[in-house]
Amino acid sequence: MRVTLLLLCTVLIVAALVTTAIKAQKAASTVVPANAPYKNAGLSAEKRAADLLKRMTLEEKASMVAGSGWMESTPIPRLGIPAIKMADGPLGVRSWAGSSAITGLPGSPLKVQSTSFPAGVAMAATWDTELVHREGQAIAQEVKALGRDMILGPTVNINRVPLWGRNFEGYGEDPYLTSRLGVAYVKGVQGEGVIPSVKHFAANNQDFERHRIDEQIDPRTLHEIYLPAFKAAVQEGGAWNVMSAYNLVNGVHCAESKDLLKGILKGEFGFKGFVVSDWGSTYSTAPTVNAGMDLEMPGGQPAQNWLTVPETKVAGNGIAFLTPDKVLAEVKAGNITEATLDDNVGRILRVIFLSGIFDHPHVGGGEVNTPAQAAVALQGATESIVLLKNAGALLPLNAKKIRSIAVIGPNAAVARTGGGGSSLVEPKYKIAPLDGIKKLVGSGVEVKYALGAGMAGEYPAQDTAEARAKLLQEAVDAAAHSDVAVVVVGRYDKIEREDFDVKTMDLPAGQDELIEAVEQANPHTIVVLNTGNPVTMTRWLDKTPALLDMWYGGQEAGTALASILFGETNPSGKLPVSLPKEFKDSPAAANYPGVNLKVNYAEGIYVGYRYYDTRNVEPQFPFGFGLSYTTFEYTDLKVTPLALAAGAGHSGAVVSLTLHNTGSRAGAEVVQLYVHDGHSKIDRPVHELKGFRRVELKPGESQTVGFTLGRDAFSYWSPETKAWVVEPGTFEIQVGASSRDIRLKAPLELKQ
Ligand code: BGC
Repeated sequence: MRVTLLLLCTVLIVAALVTTAIKAQKAASTVVPANAPYKNAGLSAEKRAADLLKRMTLEEKASMVAGSGWMESTPIPRLGIPAIKMADGPLGVRSWAGSSAITGLPGSPLKVQSTSFPAGVAMAATWDTELVHREGQAIAQEVKALGRDMILGPTVNINRVPLWGRNFEGYGEDPYLTSRLGVAYVKGVQGEGVIPSVKHFAANNQDFERHRIDEQIDPRTLHEIYLPAFKAAVQEGGAWNVMSAYNLVNGVHCAESKDLLKGILKGEFGFKGFVVSDWGSTYSTAPTVNAGMDLEMPGGQPAQNWLTVPETKVAGNGIAFLTPDKVLAEVKAGNITEATLDDNVGRILRVIFLSGIFDHPHVGGGEVNTPAQAAVALQGATESIVLLKNAGALLPLNAKKIRSIAVIGPNAAVARTGGGGSSLVEPKYKIAPLDGIKKLVGSGVEVKYALGAGMAGEYPAQDTAEARAKLLQEAVDAAAHSDVAVVVVGRYDKIEREDFDVKTMDLPAGQDELIEAVEQANPHTIVVLNTGNPVTMTRWLDKTPALLDMWYGGQEAGTALASILFGETNPSGKLPVSLPKEFKDSPAAANYPGVNLKVNYAEGIYVGYRYYDTRNVEPQFPFGFGLSYTTFEYTDLKVTPLALAAGAGHSGAVVSLTLHNTGSRAGAEVVQLYVHDGHSKIDRPVHELKGFRRVELKPGESQTVGFTLGRDAFSYWSPETKAWVVEPGTFEIQVGASSRDIRLKAPLELKQ
């Protein structure tokens, strides 16, 4: 009996396999008619994807959930399905964008020199959504010009810890600011028919043990702090792609988290695009596919070479899990359904149609680093510089009055355009602070240069006791014999980068001493920070008359710095992160980097100013802060409740105020709107940013600035109801120039 049953089963299985094989053979050999609906550009992407799916064999579908190369998805030439050709970003097109090029491998084909835009944190300091939109467009144009289809950015992870190696890539500590900028970037890119990748979903907030770290995050914190930028990119930006993160959240790797991918992203947020894994972040086949992972990257040969590639050997485990053979085996074993594969592949196809790359492939051969693209990079660099201190109005310098200037420091003569890792762009040219200053002052001012201190770890010959003393003395001499000294300090791409975190908030060795020595030699010293992350300034700040933060400003940072120093442009950058006095003051310090590969986000929603302002911890410089060479006055705040839907009570508000430029220079101010909820049942931060507007005014000019606030501005995520809740009652609308410089306040009564 048992033998007969066994025989019967075997016969049935063999028959099924043969039928599938014949079907596949038939489908694969069927000639696709020229008028197949999916080829009709006049039909919707959804209709085309559905038609195309029907024509695909199971094998073809299975092959599409893995990449075919380092930076390409799998094409199906029989059906005319192109590979999606990707390029790293988000701060421009990475230097090795070319087909499956891997840094360091012999024969890496393409070395690209493209526009190096300012780091994300710098773009965030502009608070200029229109500019970020243009940056997205410019980057997408370069992507197309290089024959690629997708840019791996924007990075919208929140700056939780001042030491995260990739803080420079993201848009700072606030979910609202990050959301606005992320949406602008996504729309700019997609408007050009290029696919962005909103990364890294979710909560990739440290690079220390990024593949193994398990973050314990409560649902409210996830929804209020770490997810809003993804939600906005999906719902407002209509993002076509999201990249999952390396880390684990609440015990599960993000690439196989059904809660995150299917539950939140595709379910709650209604994401219709496809999810790509971060490179080498997958650990299983069926659980990953079933969790909602649509495309594993990388794929093909490079995936197997993973461990031999020096730069990437720490990335992932080097094993590809969604290869066609593995996926097919799971389908046959009944662990992945064909319907699931249809959903995965359908999402990829839909984006291939929506983006236009099916009908109009990007063939390359275009121009990059055009004057228009470089102009966007320059505007970003200029608007991003934050004037943090200007005692005695030392700045702006007057090129007609000063005769000599000493430009000093490890970041003075070298252009440190960005942090390190996959976002680093190799531009055609880059302007260091020294170049920018020399160019601006021309021959009328003597420019002296001194290194002062070698950059830690860069050139060992500069790191002997003798060399250090000599360098310091040269800097002191240059400063002492100049009218003013500009000291450019900070980090560089080998110590502030992807793959690990910055070891300390302190400036690299020798730089504090350099600042102190120069300040002693010349009271007219301007310190310039050229880093992505905060640095400890307590040793010298009191004696420093002027301080600027230029972040990593991309290829034009030196031009931008000179223009700010000499007042050709009025500084208008505002901090997108709080700068703590010391690392221990920061909210996550006690819960970083975790114990036994687990990190508890115990500070919860109290990230950045939400913590400093609520718990009365004074930062060195607060969120939203930045000085100007002019002054602004805020008057006439008017707040009116708004019924957003008939009969639904008040669920929003209209706010207006007048901003005056009361100084003698033209300039831009970033008006910030915070909402305070004093009546909530639940613990809430003292205030949260819910609106901002960058306004340019001539001297003496005034402008009315208006905001419309929706439900989102007042709600919190309730762990009880698992939904956003607005509690009727009295809120306070605060308008000001930083989270700690509220100029106007007015109550707002929201009725049920
Ligand atoms: C990074 C991603 C990047 C990818 C491809 C990963 O290591 O985390 O941001 O896009 O590599 O280079």
